[in-house]
Amino acid sequence: MQEETRAYQELRVGFTAAVSHELRTPLARLLALLDSASLPGADRDALLAQAREEVEEMSELVDDVLFLSELESGREVVALGSTSALPVLEEVRDRLADSAERADVTIRVEAGPDVELPLRRRMLQIVVENLAENSIRYAGPGATLTLSARPHLLEAADDGRGLEPDELSRVFERFYRSDRARASRGTGLGLAIVKHVVVAAGGEVEATGGPGHGFTVRCRFRSAPGSASSGRP
Ligand SMILES: Nc1ncnc2c1ncn2[C@@H]1O[C@H](COP(=O)(O)OP(=O)(O)OP(=O)(O)O)[C@@H](O)[C@H]1O
Ligand SMILES: [Mg+2]
Repeated sequence: MQEETRAYQELRVGFTAAVSHELRTPLARLLALLDSASLPGADRDALLAQAREEVEEMSELVDDVLFLSELESGREVVALGSTSALPVLEEVRDRLADSAERADVTIRVEAGPDVELPLRRRMLQIVVENLAENSIRYAGPGATLTLSARPHLLEAADDGRGLEPDELSRVFERFYRSDRARASRGTGLGLAIVKHVVVAAGGEVEATGGPGHGFTVRCRFRSAPGSASSGRP
């Protein structure tokens, strides 16, 4: 028990260090931008636009960290209730349609009208949105993402670039990003949040795929109240 407490405390200390580290980079860039803006002849409009992006990136990080800590303290009740999957999948597809089009990624939705998953609606939205945003960001042009739901199962599968096996095994870690992903915006918290939400709802997550063979995240739930049982375990 003491062992567990110590491990948990180490985890928390590591987390705080990682958050500080993540904030340092955009803060340093912001400072550099402000320095540049004070030079004579500076293109202030362009520098301000970049500064705004840095601030937005920091805000996203802070939002994600706050959300994770709310989940951990149990203030965000994840599992109470169940949600009809199809409308949420369609809503996320429609909301992300523009950015999917810009990235040349097609989003398909496959779910029966009766499928329910044992999560509150907002939690299901957060999970699906994170998974879809990732495929838009990382799958590459021409890829197709299929969001599907069956009783006890939510799946996001793209046929894009995928990841090496050693990268795949780390995607649910907080702040983990593949080398390739570092060129794009993001903090590496999305899939940690997905895992936290699904586990809090009594489910489990798994990531599969391979380089050039796409990326799939499968969320299995032990029970799907209210749904017509398919006889799956
Ligand atoms: N669909 C995908 N295809 C290829 N790689 C992916 C895919 N989804 C996630 N990854 C890899 O997993 C890493 C972790 O994803 P995660 O969503 O946790 O963080 P992020 O997208 O980098 O940042 P954030 O979600 O916090 O904005 C990504 O940086 C990327 O390297
Ligand atoms: Mg992400």
